[in-house]
Amino acid sequence: MVRAAAPRRSSRDDIPVARRSRPPQRVRRSGSGLFLACCFVFGGSLAAVLFGPSLVSRFTPSVSGVEGIAERPTEDGRLLGHFPYPEADQSALVEISPGLMLQVDAAEALRSMRRAAAADGIDLRLLSGYRSHSLQKGIFFDVKSARNQTASERAKVSAPPGYSEHSTGLAVDLGDGDDPGTNLSQSFESTPAFRWLQDHAAAYHFTLSFPIGNIQGVSYEPWHWRFEGSSDALRLFEPARRLAQTR
Ligand code: DAL
Ligand code: ZN
Repeated sequence: MVRAAAPRRSSRDDIPVARRSRPPQRVRRSGSGLFLACCFVFGGSLAAVLFGPSLVSRFTPSVSGVEGIAERPTEDGRLLGHFPYPEADQSALVEISPGLMLQVDAAEALRSMRRAAAADGIDLRLLSGYRSHSLQKGIFFDVKSARNQTASERAKVSAPPGYSEHSTGLAVDLGDGDDPGTNLSQSFESTPAFRWLQDHAAAYHFTLSFPIGNIQGVSYEPWHWRFEGSSDALRLFEPARRLAQTR
């Protein structure tokens, strides 16, 4: 699947460590909770009526694309190579390590896979899991600006908001705990952890999303794996899988 002598480029992905996830918010409970809840519902309803359409269009993938990106989606729905993905249902997310959430089936499969890897002496680390559209928006646009990149350049290593597999809660970025210097770097492919994943990930329904020379035109990401072990996951990733098979 992966060339033996692939270049050890150091083109680190895309995500400053502090932005790979957003820690779960603590809920404060107090006597004024009911009052605040009423204000929230009333205010939310008013805002939805007044600003709903424009707010929705900022974060929901659509034929009109994404605010701030001049390019428009192609006929198959892709924007700058990336397929559109909905945000995971919040009630289906579980925290798998501090600040990192995954959809419950993917979390269970990852736990099993990490246990099996550990039994083989491999320390598989989860670096990034679920990301909301809003978090992906910051990762795309803020880093694009900091690096003075065009949208096309940025999209080679990061999906626009509404177009990341991470938003489904079914995609993971994995690292080798014994070689953290390779985290989110193409040099991860030379680690024992990556070799172990090549041999065993399919047994846990994880597949490499962006192999070398992928038809979506996204940079090679040996660390990024998606879970295809449920009917929902298969349905969500069907367009990407079908496109890859045309190669
Ligand atoms: N780095 C991958 C493409 C993402 O942002 O979803
Ligand atoms: Zn990723």
